[in-house]
Amino acid sequence: MIGVFDSGLGGLGIVSALRDLAPAADIVVLADQARAPYGDRPVEEVRRLAHRAADELIDRGCTTIVVACNTASTAALSSLRDARPDVAFVGMEPAVKPAASHTDSGVIAVLGTTGTIEGGLLASMIERFGMGRTVKGVALPGLVEMIEDGLAHAPAVERFLERELAGAIAEGADTYVLACTHYGFARDAIETVTGSGTTVIDPAEPVARQALRVSGGNQGSGATIVLTTADPVRMRRQVRLILGWDLPVGRVETRTTTG
Ligand code: DGL
Repeated sequence: MIGVFDSGLGGLGIVSALRDLAPAADIVVLADQARAPYGDRPVEEVRRLAHRAADELIDRGCTTIVVACNTASTAALSSLRDARPDVAFVGMEPAVKPAASHTDSGVIAVLGTTGTIEGGLLASMIERFGMGRTVKGVALPGLVEMIEDGLAHAPAVERFLERELAGAIAEGADTYVLACTHYGFARDAIETVTGSGTTVIDPAEPVARQALRVSGGNQGSGATIVLTTADPVRMRRQVRLILGWDLPVGRVETRTTTG
């Protein structure tokens, strides 16, 4: 069983990629919407929340867990691996390496939450894989909330992005890395604002492939279990809107056992 968790809807992008690649895989996705967004919370708190979410998925039989949240991966991936060596954790990391190979202008913008943009993981990815390119971290506080509110395709999101990406566009960025799993749902708006001749890199599919590699692949009964720590009726509506899937949603209260 593959577990996927995020602060909210971001995990659904990974679930959708997993389902495309592995129709038979059994998947449990947990959205910690009662505590979303994670992006502006202190690292210690995000770490604690990530452990609680992981524990819930482990209790439900998951042996592979995708930390489908860049903020939580930055804060907690190594401590999760230390706490549960019996579980295979697959994390998100800013896709600086493919961006550095792809850019023509030599300017890359990495879009993420404040926690991801200011966190150590992005700095180390730039150092290891930046290949001397200019890599500009752009924090987009507020965008996760707009996506959670179903506004990914609303004009307000485009106006927000025009304002927030103006600096990167002016500096000639031609490659935009999605370093927040929520942002895949606003990809159309990001492409509209950055314009033709730019590329958006979303790591959802490579991460799903990696999860399938470590979990043994397309095996199971094709079950998808959806859980939220907040309102299941709202989450059911959001899943229907975003993925077009009508699935029952359960409510859980995560608790601390390892972290
Ligand atoms: N999807 C999460 C990420 O990838 C959003 C974090 C948040 O809740 O702020 O970082």
